[in-house]
Amino acid sequence: MDFSVKSGNPEKQRSACVVVGVFERRRLSPAALQLDRACGGRISSLLRRGDMDGRSGQTLLLHNLPRTLSDRVLLVGCGREREFGERQYRSALESAIRVLQDTGATEAVVYLTELNVKGRERDTYWCVRRAVETAEETIYRFDRLKTGKDGARRPLRKLTLALSSRRELAAGERAVREGAAIAAGVRLARELGNLPANVCTPAYLAEEARALAKSSRRLKVEVLEKADMEKLGMGALLSVARGSRQPPKLIVLHYTGGARGAAPVALVGKGITFDSGGISIKPAAAMDEMKFDMCGAAGVLGALKACVELQLPINVVGVVAASENLPDGDASKPGDIVTTLSGQTVEVLNTDAEGRLVLCDALTYCERFEPEVVVDLATLTGACVVALGKHASGLLGTHAPLVHALIEAGRYSGDRAWELPLWDEYQDQLKSNFADMANIGGRDAGAITAACFLSRFTKKFRWAHLDIAGVAWKSGDQKGATGRPVPLLSQYLLDRCDGAGPAARRRRARAGD
Ligand code: BES
Ligand code: MN
Ligand code: ZN
Repeated sequence: MDFSVKSGNPEKQRSACVVVGVFERRRLSPAALQLDRACGGRISSLLRRGDMDGRSGQTLLLHNLPRTLSDRVLLVGCGREREFGERQYRSALESAIRVLQDTGATEAVVYLTELNVKGRERDTYWCVRRAVETAEETIYRFDRLKTGKDGARRPLRKLTLALSSRRELAAGERAVREGAAIAAGVRLARELGNLPANVCTPAYLAEEARALAKSSRRLKVEVLEKADMEKLGMGALLSVARGSRQPPKLIVLHYTGGARGAAPVALVGKGITFDSGGISIKPAAAMDEMKFDMCGAAGVLGALKACVELQLPINVVGVVAASENLPDGDASKPGDIVTTLSGQTVEVLNTDAEGRLVLCDALTYCERFEPEVVVDLATLTGACVVALGKHASGLLGTHAPLVHALIEAGRYSGDRAWELPLWDEYQDQLKSNFADMANIGGRDAGAITAACFLSRFTKKFRWAHLDIAGVAWKSGDQKGATGRPVPLLSQYLLDRCDGAGPAARRRRARAGD
């Protein structure tokens, strides 16, 4: 999709469609009011007749309004003006895009970006960026494995986002660029997540990483093979891969946008391309969804794609621990004890707690990059979904400023995370009679004890963990990968760049830039 920004009157737009908001009880937004005046009150008289009252989710498509230059006008219900916040803004954008896709209009000028969205930091930059990301997200379809061509007759190709004044153009243009870059990262993560496990194997992920690295000279990739892992002593990762005929891969991507030698941010992703549970096998219901167990890996690749597109002036290392988790005559058995890369031993009481086993070795491997911070992302526990549902990632970490920065990035990007405690008391649940620790901590606080396990491999750096089990994909008739937490991570990385953090944003907002 092609995006641009402009400022100008809605009645003067020569476009296939002009999109404007209407608030509840028939209150016209400023752009709708301008159109209404131009066409002699046609809009308000339609509303008075009861065709629409502005409730959220309503839309009304009008053709050939007198004294306006566009073919169509689309009115979008925005709910009560007092309550028009981030959620309402997003749903107005979604309704608009869906209707536009059905109308046969290939381009449109959208005035929803001019609306005042309630809440801190909801300025022009934010509104435009969110519009770009939401449009791309709404348009996305995973259809590469369907044979028939269904869907829109003429696809929507170009959206122009309206700004209330020319002074906003610079911020709007930056928002378009950055929104499109983040959307490209999200798209890559969704595409990888949605691919079935017979296509998206560890080797496939490695090839995707290589393809991504080809797209930029700032990106280099190296792939550790099974033999390399054996040499290093990655006994935990290897124990998960034993049950599979697909060889595991440890994929390492180096993005070098920053000064040479500047400590990198390390992102570590769980890449279980299918999680059957292994010998501790899962029930059959919804097991297909365990193809999404590599969404942490997809998030790492998506975030690196965004780095490339944003040309961020920092160094980032992406590490993906990729394997299948299957039952087999040679698979790990409950009670097996493995030696991790760190030297610590682990009693594998449940082979379905495999994510932490592949991650612990990947985390230890990160030490060699002397990272500034390490963030891992993993569809790690069903317990996290029980605790937080599908709205927030679980966030646990050992470095308060890092945790805080991730929460803020999530809030700003709409890809939210919520902190859970990582208190020492929980560590006791990992005691084993036979090894340094067990790989499970019992029924209580499963998301926390999983993070406790990881924390034993992160002592040498600042670390935070995102449990994305609830947010990385949707179930039901909208089943599919969401691309989360790419928006959160992209925002976190943007914030780390000079002059782009929350403080700089607030400074700009005050200066009216
Ligand atoms: N990939 C799963 C976690 C998961 C389950 C994510 C359901 C989303 C939906 C993970 O490997 C797993 O199986 N975790 C176990 C841990 C348990 C054995 C301690 C779980 O959550 O049940
Ligand atoms: Mn599992
Ligand atoms: Zn898993």
